[in-house]
Amino acid sequence: KSAKTEILDHKNAEAELGGGQKRIDAQHKKGKLTARERIALLVDEGSFEEIGKFVMHRTRDFGLDKEHYLGDGVVTGYGTIHGRLTYVFAQDFTVFGGALSETHAEKICKIMDLAMKNGAPVVGLNDSGGARIQEGVLSLAGYADIFYRNTLASGVVPQISAVMGPCAGGAVYSPAITDFILMVENTSYMFVTGPNVVKTVTHETVTAEELGGASTHSTKSGVTHFACANELECIQYIKKLLSYVPQNCEDDPIRLPYEPADENRPKLNAIIPENPNQPYDMREVIEEIVDAGSFFEVHKAFAENIVVGFARLAGRSIGVVGNQPAILAGVLDIDASTKAARFVRFCDSFNIPLLVLEDVPGFLPGTDQEWNAIITNGAKLLYAFCEATVPRVTVITRKAYGGAYDVMNSKHIGADMNYAWPTAEIAVMGASGAAEIIFKREIAEAADPQARLQEKVLDYTNKFANPYRAAHRGYIDEVIYPEQTRQKLIRSFQMLENKVATLPKKKHGNIPL
Ligand code: COA
Repeated sequence: KSAKTEILDHKNAEAELGGGQKRIDAQHKKGKLTARERIALLVDEGSFEEIGKFVMHRTRDFGLDKEHYLGDGVVTGYGTIHGRLTYVFAQDFTVFGGALSETHAEKICKIMDLAMKNGAPVVGLNDSGGARIQEGVLSLAGYADIFYRNTLASGVVPQISAVMGPCAGGAVYSPAITDFILMVENTSYMFVTGPNVVKTVTHETVTAEELGGASTHSTKSGVTHFACANELECIQYIKKLLSYVPQNCEDDPIRLPYEPADENRPKLNAIIPENPNQPYDMREVIEEIVDAGSFFEVHKAFAENIVVGFARLAGRSIGVVGNQPAILAGVLDIDASTKAARFVRFCDSFNIPLLVLEDVPGFLPGTDQEWNAIITNGAKLLYAFCEATVPRVTVITRKAYGGAYDVMNSKHIGADMNYAWPTAEIAVMGASGAAEIIFKREIAEAADPQARLQEKVLDYTNKFANPYRAAHRGYIDEVIYPEQTRQKLIRSFQMLENKVATLPKKKHGNIPL
């Protein structure tokens, strides 16, 4: 080997050691993998090409002129995941705690620019103590350069953020702008200000895990879409997520081979209980309709009264949005509306057709909802559906009441095909509420008000608690037997495959925020 080659060997080895063996051991002791180990698990074996391995920071303050690490705390590059090009950055906690410097940010921006030019997803593996304190505003500028690119890339290429360690202060806003956030239980946290500042300002005592751990953000705030048991699961979820989405907004999702078979699903006939107030699990309906085992739920533990996720139908990716009668009777509230709206917008950005399974008793009443703006937030979901130009199909399984009927991908707001099961009830509200209002006087004046009420409820039920009024008008294209649902959906999505729809020319809309 020549001396020059040996220098390169030496530098490569140095870069690959990050902040040194001691810090790598400390990382492992915390139950965390290193940046390079994570990348190795994420991309197809042997496919990773690193960019900027020898980049070093340029800071001279606070003794940093004497402390350099090749790569400067972030490993960046590209590789393939399931054979498809993906750009990756992984922050290296062993180098200055993964803290973001000017050069560290430049490396991330470089791969983001490549991803935009070449139309491929960006996966960020975050593990960082935040802005590199010694660099001051240079580090803040670096963050802003990333935020700006995250925003420009939004809707152009899929962006996925895994938080696999600390992510605090301004650092949270890059993941927040990306499409999906994954966190790891017990070893990651995200917050704008940590427990110490919280204690000083609001006098609350709270641990980092309680304040911003994976379970907090997957249940309470909805900031994260996936809470993963460990890093391995987190990486598997990223790969799975990518398998449903296209490379960019001009691409279509991958289509798996599909052999036509008997698509009848008699089990669907028995899911809706006799009593319309009895719950059932909409996931059972989804599982029966989509390709076996293909449903991949997103935001599972947040706003459980609505279910969203990816699935495949005859090998093709779809986004599924279903009201969940098993939780809060499937009512729409603020969290359910924002959760579903964001999912609908993601699918629409990336050419993923939408299937809506509807069983909704309306919007959740109360001061809490009204004072926290259910009006504005419910409007987000309405707006998201109205704006979506991908193929859109709705199946009403049971209730479709009031304004929520309109919101849940009704024909009137641009759905392409609207089906209803014979159990559908499409009305302004439930029969007893309706009868109490419109026959109030008549009931009060009756000799036996209770009997009269029952009579009126029955009358209203017979008239409106069915799908036929809507079908007579053509708001429902077909009333179908539940067992036929899968077949009908396969055919209708095939029929809609070449759909072209455009929005009026504008700079951008003004979604109610
Ligand atoms: N800038 C520069 N160096 C940083 C850093 C930052 N923001 N955050 C951490 N580091 C360095 C530490 O000095 C330490 O260096 P060393 O290995 O040479 O000793 C190393 O990263 C690891 O940090 P340490 O504090 O030992 O790890 P920890 O797991 O105990 O704690 C944090 C991790 C993130 C909670 C803690 O480092 C922290 O609070 N950092 C500052 C966070 C912050 O306020 N950032 C600025 C606002 S965005």
